[in-house]
Amino acid sequence: MMKGLILAGGLGTRLRPLSHTGPKQLIPIANKPVLHYIIEDLKNSGITDIGIIVGYTEERIKHIVDSCGDGSKFGVKITYIKQDAPRGLAHAVYTAKEFLGGENFVVYLGDNIIGEGIKEYVNSFKNSGFDAEILVGEVENPSMYGIVALNKKGVIIGIEEKPKNPKSSLAIVGVYLFKPFIFDIIKKTRLGKGGEFQLTDTLRLIYKSKRYKIKAHIVKGWWDDTGTAEAVLRANHLVLAKLKHRIEGKVEKNVSITGAVHIGKGTVIKSGTILKGPVIIGENCSIGPNSYIGPYTSIGDNTTMINSEIESSIVLGSCKLDFNGKIVDSLIGKNVKILSRNKMPRGYKFILGEHSEVNI
Ligand code: TTP
Repeated sequence: MMKGLILAGGLGTRLRPLSHTGPKQLIPIANKPVLHYIIEDLKNSGITDIGIIVGYTEERIKHIVDSCGDGSKFGVKITYIKQDAPRGLAHAVYTAKEFLGGENFVVYLGDNIIGEGIKEYVNSFKNSGFDAEILVGEVENPSMYGIVALNKKGVIIGIEEKPKNPKSSLAIVGVYLFKPFIFDIIKKTRLGKGGEFQLTDTLRLIYKSKRYKIKAHIVKGWWDDTGTAEAVLRANHLVLAKLKHRIEGKVEKNVSITGAVHIGKGTVIKSGTILKGPVIIGENCSIGPNSYIGPYTSIGDNTTMINSEIESSIVLGSCKLDFNGKIVDSLIGKNVKILSRNKMPRGYKFILGEHSEVNI
């Protein structure tokens, strides 16, 4: 039986300060952690024996409320595998050698979302004559990615990491299908850029070897790697575009709702509030009076919003917004307060943790 391996170690430096307090794989997209999308996608592809590589994130990923636990709530079995340090994706895969136990397997980077899912690729790998298959997708700025050149049959004929003169605009997406021979090749992979054992280098060794065959599938639909705040907001946008209208909370009189809006249990939308979907609001929130939530916004549980405006943003939860400006394109962590200051002396008052960012 094919197994799954999700890589959720790493440091997540590009997502600071949010990754200081929680693993990036638990950042919610439309109020659901990225990791949950991945587990569901694997389950949907017929893969129920799943290993998760964890690093400093171990305890959070195992125990955090609303996280994965032993996997039974998804109908899968999860085994946690500790990587001693984030030594690169190839090293992370090697760490799981014993768990994978000679089976074919799929590696899924813990911060990737594939819009249409991977079922089709998993099924085609079962009967393909290839030893390894990867997913690639069109990108606009190839010099920022691992770039792959293909022949007409989809066979890989070149791989370059962040090339200055890219030979194609097909970037490596974070899903890889492997047979167990891969461990021998990882062993031969040298330490690469940034002092990490890079999976891209391993892939290059495969296609250069005459012995093994590797091909790529061009991903249909959208995909994203939620490694930066911009990408998290982009993924939120793409997922919310398919949101279903569902009102479980209470809506007071004199509230205007247009488009698809999901209002969770125990949430109250107060008078004078405007919701323009797609918007998702979690449970036990208090929104309004006199507030505006614009398209492509996710508001996490237990958030209070008074006389405030927000659009195209994510609020993780347990936040208080009482601010007389409009918040846009923002990613706001848990337990954050954004308040208007009506006291003297006039001016902006900030209490910000390390790596915070403010644009006024
Ligand atoms: P990356 O996004 O490449 O690395 P990172 O998570 O350390 O982030 P940053 O570059 O912002 O510091 O990792 C992709 C996925 O793989 C992510 O879910 C973390 C995981 N990972 C491991 O499990 N082990 C590793 O050694 C590395 C580098 C990443």
